Amino acid sequence: MASRVPICVNDFRVFAKERLPKVWFEYQDGGADGEQTVEDNVEAFQRLRLRPRVLRDVSNRDLSTTILGTPINCPIAVAPTAYHQMSHPEGEIATAKAAAGTCMILSSHGSNTHLRDVTAAVSPDSLLWIQLYLYKDRNVTRLMVKMAEKSGYRALVLTLDSPITGKKLKDSPCVYPSLLYRLPNIEAEKSKNVVRNIGFDMSATWSVIDWLDSITTLPIVVKGILTAEDTREALKHNVAGIIVSNHGGRQLDGVYATIDALPEVVEAARGSNVEIYVDGGVRKGTDVLKALALGARAVFIGRPILWGLAYDVSLIVSMSLCMGIHMRWKGASGVKQVLDILKEEFSLAMALTGCRTISDITSDLVISPSKL
Ligand code: FNR
Repeated sequence: MASRVPICVNDFRVFAKERLPKVWFEYQDGGADGEQTVEDNVEAFQRLRLRPRVLRDVSNRDLSTTILGTPINCPIAVAPTAYHQMSHPEGEIATAKAAAGTCMILSSHGSNTHLRDVTAAVSPDSLLWIQLYLYKDRNVTRLMVKMAEKSGYRALVLTLDSPITGKKLKDSPCVYPSLLYRLPNIEAEKSKNVVRNIGFDMSATWSVIDWLDSITTLPIVVKGILTAEDTREALKHNVAGIIVSNHGGRQLDGVYATIDALPEVVEAARGSNVEIYVDGGVRKGTDVLKALALGARAVFIGRPILWGLAYDVSLIVSMSLCMGIHMRWKGASGVKQVLDILKEEFSLAMALTGCRTISDITSDLVISPSKL
């Protein structure tokens, strides 16, 4: 049982489990098949050990960095996840507000809020990227790209690990979230019925990156690469970044944990100026430090954001003589708490391993289990 005041990211999972309807919690929490990869993403971080340095004046630490040239206050950012309104009525807008100072990737297909309304709700210097799937109907992807460009998104994140949806044993068809929630980005152009039948393009090959590049001015980040071979393929195209990801273990069960895959991707991209990021299983500040030590420029987190969103959904009804009844949801505070806890833990991990700046975090700080 978590303490009543959450002190670590996993406490938010316990709260979300208590507060959300079981089927919704399981939709968010679960993964493909036997969920081996869901667990391994977390456990692989725990297998790695740290080799701290001492006496390096860590009295002031600078956690800031850049991604694709834009400054962020810390290398912890928000991965694209679907259906934020399942966790909180303010949905993606609450998440985007809480992510101020770092980057949020909005799931275009699965967002319950129109992508235009998300950028309109946050300050213009917020860093928002948009995640895309490839539809059979390329026009749907093209329209999404154009809407994203117009609305101020600063990069396109193309998810490559989902030519088809993985098999999740816990998802029950009668409560499948798309039947309950709106998906305004794709509904904008198509009738609901068509949207539900909209298919991902299983026939896509690497040339699709060139097509995407030809229709946009935005940098392209590819998400869902786990191997050196695919990294080398990606480098042949105009890709600005790679997110090492297995979709949080929700697509192909039994694949490599992402932190285990990271070194081969980093090695294959060495010498290029493509930035490498990682997501999957990041739950602690030391996980962030390990990922950076192994070559990631930043980490993205998925489920913990959804747990944070579900943390405080209590309705506050306040009465005032002049304003009548005023209702307010306690917005983005849970997501902000999740991000703040991770940031504090990361700062602590830097201090205790002798790092003052992000560039002090080098590969010799981590030792892999095979070398123990
Ligand atoms: C996801 N993820 C995901 N990825 C993506 O590219 N588009 C999407 O719409 C979604 N939707 C989605 C929904 C839910 C409920 C989850 C949990 C995940 C995958 C996500 O971007 C990321 O890769 C993982 O969530 C990272 O793993 P952790 O941090 O959840 O362990």
